Amino acid sequence: MSITIKDDAGIAGMREACRIASQVLDEITPHIVPGITTLDIDRLSAESMARHGTRSATVGYQPPGYPPYPGHVCTSVNHVVCHGIPADKPLKKGDIVNVDVTVITEDGWYGDNSRMFEIGEVSIAARRLCALTFDAMWLGIEQVRPGARLGDVGHAIQKFVEGHGLSVVREFCGHGIGQRFHEDPQVLHYGKPGTGEELVAGMTFTIEPMINIGRRDIKEMPDGWTIVTRDRSLSAQWEHTVLVTPIGYEVLTLSDGSPATPDFVKGMAHAAA
Ligand code: MF3
Ligand code: CO
Ligand code: CO
Repeated sequence: MSITIKDDAGIAGMREACRIASQVLDEITPHIVPGITTLDIDRLSAESMARHGTRSATVGYQPPGYPPYPGHVCTSVNHVVCHGIPADKPLKKGDIVNVDVTVITEDGWYGDNSRMFEIGEVSIAARRLCALTFDAMWLGIEQVRPGARLGDVGHAIQKFVEGHGLSVVREFCGHGIGQRFHEDPQVLHYGKPGTGEELVAGMTFTIEPMINIGRRDIKEMPDGWTIVTRDRSLSAQWEHTVLVTPIGYEVLTLSDGSPATPDFVKGMAHAAA
């Protein structure tokens, strides 16, 4: 596999897919309150995708060695790191949940993003984890420009996260995305500055750090998908899909309901098209 560079038509396709992926999160947000089940979130997400003329990239998704993924979205609660399968258990006050939405447009372009949701009032530790993970994602995004290296992205995230006494999950990473869900390059959320793939305008990839309060170790559950922290500590994740532009980056998965961009983001080229 090699890294695909998107031309103008590809960029237009990616902008559309990613905007819709973000709008799906906007539309489900008011419903994510105590008592809702993650299966309800799954159904609401699927309905929103259909209203926008898109479909889920995750349902039936089956990489080699995996069973087909059953959900229209991933819903990862508390100590679940990623790939949580929607279930009929209600969310309760104090839970944190990541909802990860990936859509495919009629033209075959993929848009991938996730956000954290706090159910009612959550602990100070949980709120801090979600906020620091959000900032970590944006610090990684801020490294993106032609000539930068993927190691710069990983390093920015790792340094910040570990500096706050949290840990970076190593087994899962961001990824190139386009007319395939997961393509090259792998975008690690740790690394050394000046190493790794050099970024070129027209690349599109995700940045999606998974951050644990406790140790970084994970384990897979018997369902073949759900990943949890080995020490059962809380885990958070945020995800955007970004485009490398001639002068920096454009975050493609932004919409009216996206949480405010952190103050430290000076704003290179992430305005809406
Ligand atoms: N959306 C996830 C990602 O960010 C992948 C989910 S694959 C699934 O890459 F099969 F678990 F849905
Ligand atoms: Co992704
Ligand atoms: Co995702």
